[in-house]
Parts: sequence; structure tokens; C-alpha cells
Amino acid sequence: MKLYFANLGRHQATLSRGLLFVAVILSAASVFGWALPTPDKHANDDDKPLGKVPKLPVDSLPAEISATKIPGGFNGIPEAPADNATTLEKVKLGRKLFFDPILSTDGTVSCASCHQPDHGFASPDPIAVGVGGKVGKRNAPSVINRVFGNKFSWDGRDDTLEQQVLGPLKSETELGGDVELVIGKIKNNPEYVQEFHVAFGSDSKPPTAETVTVENLAKAIASFERTLTSGNSKVDRFRAAEYEALSKEARQGLWIFESRGGCWKCHSGSNLSDEAFHNTGVGFGKPDRDQGRFEATKNPSHEFQYKTPTLRDIEFTAPYMHDGSVKTLREVVEFYNRGGAADDPSLDKKMAPLNLSEQEIGFLVEFLKALSGESVLNPPH
Ligand code: HEC
Ligand code: HEC
Repeated sequence: MKLYFANLGRHQATLSRGLLFVAVILSAASVFGWALPTPDKHANDDDKPLGKVPKLPVDSLPAEISATKIPGGFNGIPEAPADNATTLEKVKLGRKLFFDPILSTDGTVSCASCHQPDHGFASPDPIAVGVGGKVGKRNAPSVINRVFGNKFSWDGRDDTLEQQVLGPLKSETELGGDVELVIGKIKNNPEYVQEFHVAFGSDSKPPTAETVTVENLAKAIASFERTLTSGNSKVDRFRAAEYEALSKEARQGLWIFESRGGCWKCHSGSNLSDEAFHNTGVGFGKPDRDQGRFEATKNPSHEFQYKTPTLRDIEFTAPYMHDGSVKTLREVVEFYNRGGAADDPSLDKKMAPLNLSEQEIGFLVEFLKALSGESVLNPPH
């Protein structure tokens, strides 16, 4: 017996020496750039590890999406910009483009890769993963209810949805950054040429690739995004006097949200956003902290501020915050209960510890879940 084990030990020693040998050869090979796949080839410029490109989402939204229906809980839908009135043709084209990886330089990533319909039009990755597995620095937020917004992206650098579309197209870590290449691919696609012509051309002219421009592409996608609304949640129905729509726990949560919780100070109005910028302390203490709104305005008083996001359909879009650092809604409420990052010198004045009990934290979570509504993802019956 003893002998047997001793022998095994020797075998193992030989085996591990063998493995060591292979490892040395392999690393030598990679130093000299031989056949091995060298990660640096595609690495992010700042040496962040590559992420996994998500599987392309397919369009399983309802065939017809209304562009005019006012969601329950809202008074109306803001007008589209004067030079881009919403039409069914534009919405249809924008919808197709949103799901089409033709928009990325290598044909692997679409808008929907990061704004996944199955995930409340947000990304399950804390930091979004784009072409070649490259990662940027922020979480991909939901694109739901952006028709009610007036500044776009976490730092509010874009003034219109049309303008915003150019961001991911030009970004090397999102769609790959070669806009001309992408427009060229679309121009070579006869179906798209026809569809752009129908949406943007004039009847008196035959279809040509002339209407396939980056401006029209942005207009079509923005038109589609304006149809992605969510409303008539349990909270809206409760507010419209359908009292039994909201559970007792969620009602308690609503009360805390509007009083001691102080949430209403920023998450205000029908869309639960003041469309303004605040520093809640997310990212405080991180090396190279993302500077937020400061990056868009260069105004030092805007440092570390982010746009207040809507809370509608929030249960579907974890992880949360601009850096995807908070995994669950309960952890979000616990974060606010601590007063955000209480030591952060530039913390928003509206932030303070809340002294909520465990039970009250649970009530707020129930309230947040009751903000899921009717939308293209959950059509009214
Ligand atoms: C690689 C992932 C990725 C891809 C692909 C991508 N996005 Fe995004 N999207 C993001 C991230 C990350 C942000 C936040 C950017 C920031 O704040 O700096 C964002 C922000 C947005 C916003 C702003 C939302 C708000 O709250 O203001 C809209 C709208 C949007 N994207 C639409 C699109 C469209 C349309 C496309 C396709 C043309 C697209 N995205 C492609 C990751 C992505
Ligand atoms: C001072 C303004 C302010 C107050 C008060 C506030 N929020 Fe926020 N909230 C924000 C901002 C700004 C963000 C984005 C922060 C970031 O990503 O850095 C945010 C993010 C969130 C998110 C994550 C959203 C997402 O899409 O990732 C949730 C959920 C949330 N808040 C709920 C609450 C609740 C519940 C309360 C009350 C207990 C509250 N907020 C109080 C401004 C505020």
C-alpha cells in the first residue's frame, strides 16, 4: 500500500514537471507572439479585462407599437423635435435598426445588446460590453420613458435622443466607432435603401441610397425610442383611486418614499425623476472616480453628479447606479438608509441617513416593485 502511494507521488511529480514545461513553452510562445491568441490584440486601451459580448437579442416586441398612447399616470407625451415628427415608417425603421448588429463595425453588437428588452431595456452587466468584448466605464441604463427626458446619458451630455444615437456609433467600446463603415454597409443593403426612402425620401424621386445618412438613421432610432413608454403601474392605479391595486406593504413604502425617505426630492413627477443631476455618493472612495456631469460641462460644481434616473420598471434592470455597483433593490434602499456615502464632501444636500427599520426597508422595496407598468414588454390585456 505504502509503496503504491509512494509511486503515485512520483507520478504526480513527473506530471507537474511536465505541466510546468508546457507552461514555459506556452508563455515563451506568447512572448514571441506565436499562433496563440494574444489578449492584447483586442484589449481595452486602458487594460481593463475584456467582457463577454452578449448573445444578440431578437425582436419579440408586439407587432404594433402605439406612438400616441399616453401611459397611465402621465398627462401627455412631449412633442418630438420639429424636424423629426414621429411617423410609423420611421418607428418601424428605427425598431429594425435598434435590433440589427449591422450598426456595429464587426456585426456582433446591436443597440439591444446593451439595452436588452428582456432586461427592462438595460444591461445585466455592471459595465456594458461592446464590440470585441471591450468595456466602457458605465452601466447601460434603461431606454424606457426617455421620451419624457430632456437630457440624456448619466452625465446629461446629449440634449436630444437624435444626438444621443451618435454616441454609441462613435464609441470604440460600444458599436466600434467607425460610422462611415456602418453607413456604407446599410447603403449596400437594398432593403434598407427602400426603407430609408419610404421613411425619409420624397415620392417624386426613385429610391436611391441618398436618404441613408447618419442623421436619418438617428432620427429613425429616436422615433422608435419615443414609443418605449411604461405607465399605469400599480402605483398609478392606486393614485387614480383604485386602492386595492397596491399591497399594504407597498402603500407603506409609498408613504416612506414621499415623507421620511426623502426620495421624492429627486425622484419627482410622473416619471419619478427631476431630470436634474445629483451626487448621491455612488463611487465615493474608488480610485479614478468617474466625474459624472463634470465631464459634460467642465463645471467643478458638477463633479460626481449623475442624472436622476426614472424608477419605472426598475425591478427588471439590475444592477443599479451609473457604475452598476449595487446588485439589488434592497441594497439600493440600504445605501440610501446609510445616507449614501456620508463622508463624501460633495454629497448632495438632500441626502441624509434615514434610520429606517429592516421592515421599512422592505416596504420601500415593495413600493419600487409596484412601479412596473404596462409597456411594450407588458402590453395591457
Ligand atoms: C456596448 C453597450 C451599448 C450599446 C451597444 C449601446 N448603448 Fe446605449 N448606453 C450604454 C451606456 C453605457 C450608456 C450610458 C452612457 C453614459 O452615461 O456615459 C447608454 C446610454 C443610452 C441612452 C441614454 C439613456 C438615458 O437615461 O439618458 C440611450 C437613449 C441609449 N443609450 C440608446 C442607445 C441606442 C439607440 C443604441 C444603438 C444605436 C445604443 N444605446 C447602443 C451602452 C450601450
Ligand atoms: C439627492 C437626490 C436623490 C435622492 C434623495 C434619492 N435619489 Fe435615487 N437616485 C438619484 C440619482 C442621481 C441616482 C443615480 C446615481 C448614480 O448612479 O450615481 C439615483 C439612483 C437610484 C436608483 C437606481 C436606478 C438605476 O436605474 O440604476 C434607485 C432604485 C433609486 N435611486 C431609488 C431611490 C429611493 C428609494 C430613494 C429614497 C430612499 C432615493 N432614490 C433617493 C437621486 C436621488
